[in-house]
Amino acid sequence: MKVVTSLPELRAARASLRNPLGLVPTMGFLHEGHLSLVRRARAECASVGVSIFVNPAQFGTQEDLGAYPRDLDRDLAMLRSEQVDLVWTPEVAEVYPPGFQTYVSVEEASRPLEGSRRPGHFRGVATVVAKLFNAFQPKKAYFGQKDAQQVVVVRRMARDLDFPVEVVVCPTEREPDGLAMSSRNSYLDPAERKAATVLYRALDAARSAFSRGERDADRLRAAMSEVLAGEPLARPVYVSAADPDTLAELRGPVSRALLSMAVFVGRTALIDNIVLGEI
Ligand code: PAJ
Repeated sequence: MKVVTSLPELRAARASLRNPLGLVPTMGFLHEGHLSLVRRARAECASVGVSIFVNPAQFGTQEDLGAYPRDLDRDLAMLRSEQVDLVWTPEVAEVYPPGFQTYVSVEEASRPLEGSRRPGHFRGVATVVAKLFNAFQPKKAYFGQKDAQQVVVVRRMARDLDFPVEVVVCPTEREPDGLAMSSRNSYLDPAERKAATVLYRALDAARSAFSRGERDADRLRAAMSEVLAGEPLARPVYVSAADPDTLAELRGPVSRALLSMAVFVGRTALIDNIVLGEI
């Protein structure tokens, strides 16, 4: 496994790898969720590239950029055991050199949900992913359903800017009690960690209602909100039942829905989602 930091080194190492290349973009502090993407890439592609870069452009001024967890040695050991070929760990100045002023903005898909909670977040994501696609020239790029809106934004960006990259979505990996794996789970104290299962319990309540025949979007949102209200440590930011493709909030009877939410548990913002109905 080759580990490089500069862009010229990355381009040189990339050029000697076999095609097709599968890319897994990450911000590090890896867990089984990230590794499920790496394994899928390993199974489907001749070469696998991973980026580890805590991207300042996708963090708001009030957010956790400085506190974001990092453990590069552990990350590299994990990637080595997954037979990754190439890892890029750039410095901020390599990705955003002085004078940087070109951003990618996916307009409508970036507005609702996480976009309204985190202004500028998806502009940062789309910009860095476009740069990663240019740098790695992947045939396929692997993203997690955990960040459902990110998938919609990146897909749109790849189509609109003619990147010849297939965006592959992998299912959300969960802890045994249902909590979606996330680097940010490391912020939770034991009481918060217990409370954090409320996101999955809320999604599960709506899924049960749906399987009993409930189709009304408002009542599906209410089923989730009711469970969240029962957890004193949880402070919901939004609870949504949206069209999985356009992310438009749904009203009335639905056949397919992306149920998603952002919830503060203590000072930590957690997100989760499931898709109901035929995919
Ligand atoms: P990060 O949060 O490190 O996640 C990297 C990838 O792992 C994303 O595609 C994310 O959806 C996926 N992932 C995270 N938790 C997961 C889980 N529990 N199950 C399955 N997949 C999971 O997302 C980012 O980084 C950044 O925004 C990035 C795309 C790297 C751009 O900076």
